[in-house]
Amino acid sequence: MQHVLVTGGAGFIGSNFVRHLLGAREDVQVVTYDLLTYAGSLENLRDLPRPERHRFVKGDVCDRAAVDAVLADHAIDTIVHFAAESHVDRSIAAPGEFIRTNVTGTFTLLEAARAAWRGRDGVRFHHVSTDEVYGSLAPDDPPVVESAAYAPRSPYAASKAASDHLVRAYATTYGLEVTISNCSNNYGPYQFPEKLVPLMIVNGALGKPLPVYGDGKQVRDWLHVEDHCAAILAILERGRPGETYHVGGGNQPTNLEVVEAICQLLDVRYPDAPHAPHRSLVTHVTDRPGHDRRYDLDCTKLERELGWHRRHGLADGLAATVAWYAQSGAWLAAIRDSDDYRRWIALNYGAR
Ligand code: NAD
Ligand code: TYD
Repeated sequence: MQHVLVTGGAGFIGSNFVRHLLGAREDVQVVTYDLLTYAGSLENLRDLPRPERHRFVKGDVCDRAAVDAVLADHAIDTIVHFAAESHVDRSIAAPGEFIRTNVTGTFTLLEAARAAWRGRDGVRFHHVSTDEVYGSLAPDDPPVVESAAYAPRSPYAASKAASDHLVRAYATTYGLEVTISNCSNNYGPYQFPEKLVPLMIVNGALGKPLPVYGDGKQVRDWLHVEDHCAAILAILERGRPGETYHVGGGNQPTNLEVVEAICQLLDVRYPDAPHAPHRSLVTHVTDRPGHDRRYDLDCTKLERELGWHRRHGLADGLAATVAWYAQSGAWLAAIRDSDDYRRWIALNYGAR
């Protein structure tokens, strides 16, 4: 691993990964390849360690000529593929872009890698996927293992499942050196404030309603993004080609419990806010169609084979995340003031 292409590296997890990789390894060159959709920003890539080892290339993963060029120009030997449309609610409102980016984009990247790396050793295509491909668990179901069957239920999950199948097919059919990681719900710095954790932090700090879908008793596993980045690096360094690894946070709170924890942190930070206690802002709104009840990943394989262990508990991780958002006013304001963000909030919550 010397010349690493990070697709979607200007988004939430991708930018954290670029920062993690440059900090951890002084011997790699990193190229971020990103279309800078509403979810991506160069502001997420400020203050990188070893910036001289990083390049940014604006481009679409569906653009074969541009992907071919970036692979050749930078002698890429490792691809870490994050680029995707990633928000379930947007996939319900407008699924087409999810098929284009997540399915066609992954296919385009696989084809380009296959052509560029024909007959070459020491290459790797790492694909970043999600626990949502396994569908919804019942309360007593055991954590999902890597060999479980796929049962996606939202357009987002179905598009990610399709991309995972393509990646596996390229390994089987063409011998492409691939690894896949399926992770749970990430949280941490630079997450776009449309997802649960940052939305609740941002709305709570502003005294706006905290919209909880349905009864709020849906269960997620919450993974700090830095633990996720460390897991991906471990897979790149020590993972077995052809294998899938699960990455999770090892917790099972309900959404209401996560929102309550955030409210308590906001109460401590803003005790004199006119809307304190912040839990008074919780508002139950119409549920998400087809809302998955529960996800839970078994991460034993990653722990046993690669020695990965998470460093962040949920309580500490949420506290650090609330602190990061409190200190990132300019970053947040740029998003909140954008037309796209306003449109999305009106579309998703206006009539809920
Ligand atoms: P994100 O939405 O924050 O960022 C996605 C990035 O991809 C953005 O920078 C965007 O500009 C870029 N992008 C979108 N379409 C593109 C295209 N056509 N060409 C090039 N770049 C494009 O997403 P995220 O939360 O950082 O998720 C990253 C990956 O991790 C995704 O593949 C997602 O499915 C997966 N994942 C995320 C989570 C989570 O909790 N956030 C959980 C499981 C899996
Ligand atoms: P989200 O962050 O969108 O991630 P995902 O759908 O990929 O799990 O949502 C996390 C959980 O929070 C999910 O059960 C939906 C719920 N949720 C709300 O209750 N209100 C909201 O405003 C959002 C965005 C999510």
